[in-house]
Amino acid sequence: MQRHILGIALAVAAAIAEKIPFPLPVLPHLIASPKAPSTAFPPGAARDPSKICVVDPEATDAGPALISAARDCNNGGTVVLLPDTTYTIASPTDLTFLQSVDVLILGTVVFNDDVEYWQTKAFGYAYQDAHLFWKFGGRDVNIYGLGTGTLDGLGQTWWTAKRSNETLYRPILFGTDGLVGGSVSGLNMKNSPFWFNVIMNSSDILITDINIWNEVTNSSSPPANTDGWDTYRSTNIVIQNSTIDNYDDCVSFKPNSTNIIVQNLHCNGSHGISVGSLGQYQGEYDIVEDVYVYNISMNNASDGARIKIWPGVPPNTTGSSSGGGAGHVRNITYELFYNTNNDWAIQLTQCYFASSQEACNAYPAALLVEDILFKDFYGTTSARHDPQVGTIVCKNIRAENIAVSPPSAATAQCICTNVDEGLLDINCIMP
Ligand SMILES: *[C@@H]1O[C@H](CO)[C@@H](O)[C@H](O)[C@H]1NC(C)=O
Ligand SMILES: *[C@@H]1O[C@H](CO)[C@@H](O)[C@H](O)[C@H]1NC(C)=O
Ligand SMILES: *[C@@H]1O[C@H](CO)[C@@H](O)[C@H](O)[C@H]1NC(C)=O
Ligand SMILES: *[C@@H]1O[C@H](CO)[C@@H](O)[C@H](O)[C@H]1NC(C)=O
Ligand SMILES: *[C@@H]1O[C@H](CO)[C@@H](O)[C@H](O)[C@H]1NC(C)=O
Ligand SMILES: *[C@@H]1O[C@H](CO)[C@@H](O)[C@H](O)[C@H]1NC(C)=O
Ligand SMILES: *[C@@H]1O[C@H](CO)[C@@H](O)[C@H](O)[C@H]1NC(C)=O
Ligand SMILES: *[C@@H]1O[C@H](CO)[C@@H](O)[C@H](O)[C@H]1NC(C)=O
Ligand SMILES: *[C@@H]1O[C@H](CO)[C@@H](O)[C@H](O)[C@H]1NC(C)=O
Ligand SMILES: *[C@@H]1O[C@H](CO)[C@@H](O)[C@H](O)[C@H]1NC(C)=O
Repeated sequence: MQRHILGIALAVAAAIAEKIPFPLPVLPHLIASPKAPSTAFPPGAARDPSKICVVDPEATDAGPALISAARDCNNGGTVVLLPDTTYTIASPTDLTFLQSVDVLILGTVVFNDDVEYWQTKAFGYAYQDAHLFWKFGGRDVNIYGLGTGTLDGLGQTWWTAKRSNETLYRPILFGTDGLVGGSVSGLNMKNSPFWFNVIMNSSDILITDINIWNEVTNSSSPPANTDGWDTYRSTNIVIQNSTIDNYDDCVSFKPNSTNIIVQNLHCNGSHGISVGSLGQYQGEYDIVEDVYVYNISMNNASDGARIKIWPGVPPNTTGSSSGGGAGHVRNITYELFYNTNNDWAIQLTQCYFASSQEACNAYPAALLVEDILFKDFYGTTSARHDPQVGTIVCKNIRAENIAVSPPSAATAQCICTNVDEGLLDINCIMP
């Protein structure tokens, strides 16, 4: 029997102690800014600076070591992943029992890229086949990396594997399920197999100072579906002050995302900041409400501000996951958007993935979209749809000060379908 101190074997404790920065860097004071949520985040409990649990750097599988450190430090302590250390998580790691505990990641966390293993072992969700290597939940938890902590999903293995099986489960790099109160900050996140982050069943979380990118080593298997953040069944979330260089949505508000602020982001190469997709599942009711997207620099994207809704399905369609869902989208503001080389500055569609415009017209979307404002949009789009810079459907959509130009000298146009033109400060053309 080995004695354990702080969750690690005594034999290595001395060597490890040398690596623990002293005093332990404290969680920076994080504030939601410039916009603050209408319901202030609940304050966290005080932490005991002497309650420190180091995750065993020698563990062949960092998963159980992390769980053990988190158990030891729960209720007031700080779990530390040492600097200059690579931890490999090789089994599903359930961290949904956390209570008033912080996780300081100074080293690198990688996730074993045994594709076969994770097919059956990752935490699986019915919604869009989302899968997780690890999941965080509980109350009052701050996960922070001070700009040096890194999560590496070894994505290239997964993007290559996807080429031989399109429906292969590719886990999300970071996920919460049932986290109430806390923050995620100062982390580098690279090479996610699938989405970078999912925030599910969660509330009152501030996410700030995150750096997201992919390193492609096989250009014939590029990254896919590497969304920056997806929110789902979550409320009162702020995502801010981050850079995202990826290949799908920069941020996406999935079903039942409410009271969300996204601000001061620098996105490159994405599919924009998206509401949706919504209405994908027949029989479900999707809500996206009270979202404020502010001060975004959007570059090299297919879309800037985007709302994507699936069309309806023919009557008596059964088991459909390709449209027909109901719901509503309400009170969404996109304000201060700097566009460079995006195909569309604004795209609002209710025919997402429709087989044809005729099919979409025959079975229109069953979601209500109302009280949407696009305001203060600047910059230049790509040449792709020149001179068109946007597409808008639905009444009660407002657009103010849309100063976006196509690369040619032509006057910018927006394709408008079933709109109230009086509310649109743009040059509408009807298709
Ligand atoms: C986020 O950026 C804003 C403005 O640039 C700044 O005032 C705020 O302190 C930043 N917040 C954090 C947590 O870094
Ligand atoms: C693709 O991956 C999925 C999920 O693991 C699996 O169910 C399916 O059998 C795989 N298909 C092939 C052809 O291997
Ligand atoms: C959310 O919480 C519910 C109820 O606890 C649970 O059934 C579900 O699996 C959780 N996760 C998601 C993504 O809904
Ligand atoms: C690169 O990707 C291609 C296409 O998926 C694949 O056939 C090839 O094996 C990959 N190369 C390496 C070195 O993995
Ligand atoms: C917008 O965000 C950038 C960082 O991406 C920041 O430097 C700038 O101060 C912000 N502007 C406003 C008006 O908040
Ligand atoms: C930005 O996105 C473009 C298009 O996807 C890509 O070519 C480029 O490498 C990305 N990063 C930077 C820093 O330009
Ligand atoms: C969204 O919330 C509504 C109202 O609580 C609920 O009826 C619906 O089932 C939820 N939808 C999803 C996808 O969770
Ligand atoms: C609209 O949403 C914003 C952002 O969440 C919120 O501050 C505002 O109070 C909402 N407006 C209404 C009328 O509910
Ligand atoms: C957009 O892409 C171009 C070409 O790939 C690149 O040079 C530029 O830096 C990108 N813009 C940003 C802001 O990353
Ligand atoms: C749908 O199913 C109902 C009940 O089975 C049937 O009465 C109705 O005719 C069907 N509608 C269509 C369009 O097939």
